[in-house]
Amino acid sequence: MASPTHFLVVVVLLLLGVATTAFSLSPNFYDKVCPQALPAIRKVVEADGSLFTSVVMVHSFWIPHLLSKPRKNARGNLNPVRGFEVVDQIKAEVDRVCGRPVVSCADILAVAARDSVVALGGPTWKVRLGRRDSTRARLDLANTELPSPSLDLPGLLNNFRKQGLNRRDLVALSGAHTLGVSRCSIFRNRIYNATNIDPAFAKQRRATCPRTGGNTNLAPFDSTPAHFDTAYF
Ligand code: HEM
Repeated sequence: MASPTHFLVVVVLLLLGVATTAFSLSPNFYDKVCPQALPAIRKVVEADGSLFTSVVMVHSFWIPHLLSKPRKNARGNLNPVRGFEVVDQIKAEVDRVCGRPVVSCADILAVAARDSVVALGGPTWKVRLGRRDSTRARLDLANTELPSPSLDLPGLLNNFRKQGLNRRDLVALSGAHTLGVSRCSIFRNRIYNATNIDPAFAKQRRATCPRTGGNTNLAPFDSTPAHFDTAYF
């Protein structure tokens, strides 16, 4: 079973990481100490092949909604516990092929997220490595610094700015919602009360998200929730 610590460690890293780790990152960081590490990560991701694992990886890269949202039974056959197990499985395999724990959890997640995107039909890119794991887990930071789903555009821009991210980053990173789903409780207010929403789309969503109840009913973010494509935009 995955230790939440792994995730917490990465949370902090991501929240603080943009500013603090950029100086020495390189795609070749592990070439000398453990050239087998990256192929090992890809192998586990590809062998697992589950959509949920991929969603967990991509989400984990941004992380922490996962920490604050127990969704164990909310997703039918997409079982989050399985996703967490795969993170631990990858970590164990990387430590095994390297002979010792030389690859950081943050780097493992960053590479696994990239490999998951590729496995779901998305583009590839070089991951700059050498991120260090935090020695302290800060769930409080994860909960307060993450953007709330109810933020408006200025609020989102402000939240991203505080992490050193600009409006281009906001648009690009939001594209991660090409994968996965959202719970009815999260978007109910918009489909019943908002005026700045396409009425036909709102009506469509109301079909599976009633005014009361059905909080954990799920709806995809775009028309192809299992493919990494541009449909979200
Ligand atoms: C711009 C700020 C963001 C906001 C306000 C936001 C909000 C949300 C919300 C409300 C959900 C649905 C949660 C639920 O119903 O349980 C969600 C899911 C998701 N988010 Fe974000 N998110 C943001 C940024 C990101 C970023 C930067 C990434 C990745 C790079 C990301 C990846 C995902 C993924 C993959 C899911 C689907 C999870 C699943 O299907 O279980 N999000 N997000």
